[in-house]
Amino acid sequence: MKILGIETSCDETCAAVVEDGRRVLSNVVASQVDIHRKYGGVVPEIASRAHIESLVPVVAEALQIAAAPAADLQAVAAVHRPGLIGSLLVGLTAAKTLAWLRGVPLLAVNHIEAHIYAACLERDPCAPGPFPCVSLIVSGGHTSLYHSTGPLEHRLVGATTDDAAGEAFDKVAALLDLGYPGGPVIDRTAERGNPRAVDFPRPWLGRESLDFSFSGLKTAVLYHVRGKGAGAKRRATRLSAEETADVAAGFQEAVVEVLVGKTLRAAEALGVDRVLVGGGVAANRRLRGRLQADAHAAGLEVFIPPMAYCTDNAAMVAGLAYHLLRAGRTAELDLGARAG
Ligand code: KG4
Ligand code: ZN
Repeated sequence: MKILGIETSCDETCAAVVEDGRRVLSNVVASQVDIHRKYGGVVPEIASRAHIESLVPVVAEALQIAAAPAADLQAVAAVHRPGLIGSLLVGLTAAKTLAWLRGVPLLAVNHIEAHIYAACLERDPCAPGPFPCVSLIVSGGHTSLYHSTGPLEHRLVGATTDDAAGEAFDKVAALLDLGYPGGPVIDRTAERGNPRAVDFPRPWLGRESLDFSFSGLKTAVLYHVRGKGAGAKRRATRLSAEETADVAAGFQEAVVEVLVGKTLRAAEALGVDRVLVGGGVAANRRLRGRLQADAHAAGLEVFIPPMAYCTDNAAMVAGLAYHLLRAGRTAELDLGARAG
C-alpha cells in the first residue's frame, strides 16, 4: 500500500512515498534555510510563500522517484499540527485536493507523533519494533518525553518549561556568531573543542523531574561569552576560534547529558526497557553517541532513526499515516490546521 506524505509545518517543503508504513520509496526535502538565513530565523509569512512555490515540484519529484503515478496512491497524508499555521495550510490544502481528485482517503498526521515514528522506518518487518518505549522528541519547537505504547499511543511525561533544545542550539550559535541554523554548526564546531574547558550548569530540576529547562544554561553561555560571569571582567575582545569551540562543546555536553539522563530516568520510572529519540536535534552526533552508550550500559535497547529521518521530512508522515489508515482514522476534507 503506497501513501503520499506531505510535510510543510515549518521551513522545509517535504513530500515522500512510503509503502506499507516502512519502505521509503522516495523522500524529497526542499530546504528554505538559504531564504531565512539573512533574518537569523524562520519568517512565517515568507515560509508559507516559499511552500506554495516549492510544493508542486516537490510532490512531482517524490512521485517520480518512487515510480508511483498518482493513480497508484492508496491515500494522501499531511501534517495538520503543530507548526506555523500558514505553512501547515499549504501542505494540508494540497493533500486535501489530491485526495479529493483521486478519490482516496485523507490522513491528518501530528508532526510530533511522526518524529517518534521516524525510528520505525526502513526496519525489517520481522524485527521487534520500539514500542513500548520512552520517546525523547527534541526539535526546534519541542523537547518532550513520552511513554509510547504504539505508533499512535503516546502519553506526555515530561516537557520543557522554556526553550526547546533546538531553539537553545540556535540561540547559542547566534551568541557565538556561528550562523544559522545553529544545531548543525554547533555539532561541527564542538568537535574541535574541549567539553570540560568551561563548566556550564546541568539543569536537572530536582531528582525526579522529567521536565527540561534550557534558559539558564543559555544565559550562562551569554555571560561567559560577554565576560559577565561571577567575578569575570567584561570581555574586551571576541572569543578566539579555540575558545568558541570550547564553549560550543561545553554547551552541547551539558544539553546532551541532561537529555540522555532524563530519558534513562523516565525509562526507569516507567519500567520500560526501550528508548527512542527523534526530531532535528536527534541528528546531533554527540547525542546519538551518548544515548547509545549510556542506554546500552543501563541494559536498554535504543532506537535512533537515520539522520535523514531526524530533521523534518515527509517519510515519517507517510509512514505513520499507514497506521492511521489501518485504524480507520481518516480525516474529513473540512479539517483545519492547528498551531499547537
Ligand atoms: O525537527 P526539526 O527539523 O524541525 C522542527 O520540528 O523544529 O528540528 C530543527 C532543529 C533546529 O533547531 C536545528 O538547529 C536542530 O533541529 N538541529 C540540530 C542538529 N541538526 C538540526 N541540533 C543539534 N545538532 C544537530 N546536528
Ligand atoms: Zn520537526
